[in-house]
Amino acid sequence: MIKLNLEILRRKSPEDTPHWESYEFSSQDENINLAAALTELNRTLAEPVRWECSCLQKKCGACAMIIENRPRLACDTPLKEFRDKIRIEPLRKFPVIADLIVDRSILFENLKTMQVWFAEEAKTNGSQTAYEASRCLQCGCCLEICPNFFAGGEFAGMAAMVPTTRLLTALPDQQKKELFRAYRKHIYEGCGKSLACREVCPAGIEIDQLLVRSNAVAVWKRKIKHDK
Ligand code: SF4
Ligand code: SF4
Ligand code: FES
Repeated sequence: MIKLNLEILRRKSPEDTPHWESYEFSSQDENINLAAALTELNRTLAEPVRWECSCLQKKCGACAMIIENRPRLACDTPLKEFRDKIRIEPLRKFPVIADLIVDRSILFENLKTMQVWFAEEAKTNGSQTAYEASRCLQCGCCLEICPNFFAGGEFAGMAAMVPTTRLLTALPDQQKKELFRAYRKHIYEGCGKSLACREVCPAGIEIDQLLVRSNAVAVWKRKIKHDK
């Protein structure tokens, strides 16, 4: 049996002062994850905790939140990892809408700024790099942990680097030039390469390898032999 306190940082609206609330939670299901626990908890609350989810299968990134000081997906966080309590907060680098819901539109704005959004239709070469990059959930966990990312800054972080990687070799030359320029300005120049982001990526994307490849193509203009 699982029994612990869920300590949740709550606020009703962006203007509200956040405050901690603690809820006793128990379940017979030893393998229950935090997403399922929040759903069960909400059935008992007059004012349910607001949080986002969609796939519940680690595929959409919607349920990213800070769990015991680490950005994670609620649907990929088994309660049995914890002892007496879990502290749960919204991601800190995005404006909070209510409780655990944040406005992550900056993620998409950054992709638009780099014109990755519009170029997304470009055919990629089906390589391992393109596959790896396509696994990005746009969850924002990498931005949360990154010491160099802040909303509104020039540095767009790994949430932009990873999807960009798909296009670096695939676009026509003229668009490629623009993308290289945007890559240098919004990614290469801001990244300290500590790779803290790799440790928290819930999709397990090989960020270091993508970074090496994309720096080689966009900054050093090396031709990369296509991987399989
Ligand atoms: S390598 Fe470091 S600076 Fe670069 S995005 Fe990752 S955490 Fe941020
Ligand atoms: S690189 Fe990983 S942590 Fe960053 S947005 Fe994509 S899936 Fe999330
Ligand atoms: S609900 Fe989609 S990743 Fe958790």
